[in-house]
Amino acid sequence: MEIETATLDKLKIVDERTGKSYDLPIENGTIRGTDLKKIKSSAEDPGLMVYDPAYMNTAACRSAITFIDGDKGILQYRGYPIEELAESCTFLEVAYLLLHGELPGEAENEEWTRQITYHTMLHESIKKFMDGFAYDAHPMGILVATVGALSTFYPDARNIHDEASRRTQIYRLVAKMPTLAAFAYRHSRGLPYAYPDNDLTYTQNFLNMLFKMTEVKYRPEPALARALDVLFILHADHEQNCSTSVMRAIGSSHADPFSAVAGACAALYGPLHGGANEAVLKMLAEIGTKDRVPAFIKEVKEGHGEKRLMGFGHRIYKNYDPRAKIIKRIADDVFAVTGKNPLLEIALELEKIALEDEYFVKRKLYPNVDFYSGIIYQAMGLPTSMFTVLFAIARTMGWMVQWEEMLLDPEQKIARPRQVYTGPGERHLAPLAKR
Ligand SMILES: CC(C)(COP(=O)(O)OP(=O)(O)OC[C@H]1O[C@@H](n2cnc3c(N)ncnc32)[C@H](O)[C@@H]1OP(=O)(O)O)[C@@H](O)C(=O)NCCC(=O)NCCS
Repeated sequence: MEIETATLDKLKIVDERTGKSYDLPIENGTIRGTDLKKIKSSAEDPGLMVYDPAYMNTAACRSAITFIDGDKGILQYRGYPIEELAESCTFLEVAYLLLHGELPGEAENEEWTRQITYHTMLHESIKKFMDGFAYDAHPMGILVATVGALSTFYPDARNIHDEASRRTQIYRLVAKMPTLAAFAYRHSRGLPYAYPDNDLTYTQNFLNMLFKMTEVKYRPEPALARALDVLFILHADHEQNCSTSVMRAIGSSHADPFSAVAGACAALYGPLHGGANEAVLKMLAEIGTKDRVPAFIKEVKEGHGEKRLMGFGHRIYKNYDPRAKIIKRIADDVFAVTGKNPLLEIALELEKIALEDEYFVKRKLYPNVDFYSGIIYQAMGLPTSMFTVLFAIARTMGWMVQWEEMLLDPEQKIARPRQVYTGPGERHLAPLAKR
């Protein structure tokens, strides 16, 4: 097969097996996978397919939500640079932007905030469900199970083709995820559940539900609430990552959004995705002191992929992750309140050495969003097991928006990749006694 010319709008392919040539239209820098089916070596041939494990170079959808240029280190939501949003907006404003495509005006912001605030309560039975988990259950495991269980409380969520119902489920999920997360944390600590406080903002209320003890009114530290708000903005969406692809795939079978979010959460749980910030902290603790950093880097290099520098590298960013830069800045605001996390020194030393080391430079491995976020969460008093849960709260907005975009896209169908079969050819079984 020879690819002869690629003009602006079509790609000419000559099939050397048959001598036939094909013109495939190019749109938005892509050819359609199904156009390749026309290329056949014989009448029985089902046609050419694309073999692309892990979807390294396959666009599975059109999306108007998030733009990333990994080589330049650019991240934009609906066209707005992440730096500007993190500087000037609240998480709920950004959530509204992701959903509606435009930032809210004052009245819209007020109504949106009111809706989210008034959907934060959980059915009391969810508390009983939570009580059934072992005292040391991982909160991410609890979250996966309880958010899935919510689908049984909201059977109306199955009306996925009804716009008003979809909107209600978005309010519910965005509002209830912090409550589920905080309850999972309180369960692991053996503490009574703290109910939402509607006087507080989204992140202030989350801190309230996590940390309220015997005081009548919990007063969150403004710098910590703002830092958490910014971290939520940075994690809100990231186009077609592993968990978002799972959300779209489950949603494509027309399952209800609570079940789909449970699946997306499960994908996020893995250490190569949302579990990385927890893995970073474990790695920093294992290194222990700054002087042991060079030996650790040596082990990673000699491990040839077996041992990784967690929080480094990204499928898309081959430059400094723009989110990591913002996080590094807000770390200072947090440490001014909490005191410095001693692991920061080790992280800074790791970054310094890795950014100069040929192994990492050659492979374009830079710190990603997870490299510093865990250090901040730990300084705020959160256990490492909660880090991925925090990611899930913020990413729920992205999941819901991507889910709705998928449902409204007339080109989307149930997700169903193809395969290249490599097993035995047809054969016939022998009776049990003769095998
Ligand atoms: C994020 C990640 C899964 C992306 O993986 P990917 O795009 O499939 O990249 P690959 O696994 O093909 O890695 C490319 C090369 O860099 C190396 N590499 C990638 N990430 C590395 C890391 N964190 N530490 C050391 N080496 C790494 C691989 O071993 C491979 O080297 P090779 O070419 O000699 O085989 C990967 O970089 C990783 O595992 N990072 C650590 C986990 C993490 O921080 N995840 C959070 C993502 S936000």
